[in-house]
Amino acid sequence: MRLNRYISVSGFASRRRGEIYIREGRVRVNGEAVTDPARDIVPDRDQVTLDGNLLRVNPEKRYYVLNKPTGVIVSMSDTHGRANVQNLLGEETRGVFPVGRLDADTSGVLLFTDDGDLAHHLTHPSFGVEKIYRAVVRGRVNGEDVRRIGEGIVLDDGPAAPARLCILESAGETSTVEITLHQGRKRQVRRMLEAVGHRVITLERTAFDGITAKGLPLGSYRPLTREEVEQLKEQSKAPSPACGRGGRG
Ligand code: URA
Repeated sequence: MRLNRYISVSGFASRRRGEIYIREGRVRVNGEAVTDPARDIVPDRDQVTLDGNLLRVNPEKRYYVLNKPTGVIVSMSDTHGRANVQNLLGEETRGVFPVGRLDADTSGVLLFTDDGDLAHHLTHPSFGVEKIYRAVVRGRVNGEDVRRIGEGIVLDDGPAAPARLCILESAGETSTVEITLHQGRKRQVRRMLEAVGHRVITLERTAFDGITAKGLPLGSYRPLTREEVEQLKEQSKAPSPACGRGGRG
């Protein structure tokens, strides 16, 4: 692979920045300064250093959780100059992509990885991964709303699967609820709650397949712990709800 790509795959710098480092003479291959970004590198054979630090092409997959703030779109770039999640991630995360989506006006747990297999398990509808949301809505949510959402309501693009709705607080003109879904349709939580007469004021995803952003300030991210990654992989081996389990968790 080309030297500038090797540097970007190592996660140390973007391909363009790597090219600058190379032209500045800061990169050595097997001890020799190389200023040609196209120099061919064989990862298992060549030793590449930047300012004396050994760069490794890390074969290990990477996993992060971001506590997404509202007002940020889930895209790694945006031609309209809107704030996007890429702006919140550091250089070392280069190459990861978001696992699924959250609306710009939703905050909370958003996973990133470069592990395509796990991302597929986490997002494909047939696996029914559990997502938990906390919403503040207009009006008083009552037992009848809980029952209707629990039985599965019909949305304009078809029936939504039954979901668990818990009332955390219902007083005055607003209520706070927690809703657990095993689907991920467009603006699904907002549409389900609106279907039972409650417009969503704020929406936060508090858990994605058991991963939370507890203790992470809004806009910050952290790598998943080894235990968390193992937990996700274990769960992804479980049979999908399409085989008759009715959802995990
Ligand atoms: N449901 C929504 O309405 N919005 C989200 O961002 C996620 C789930």
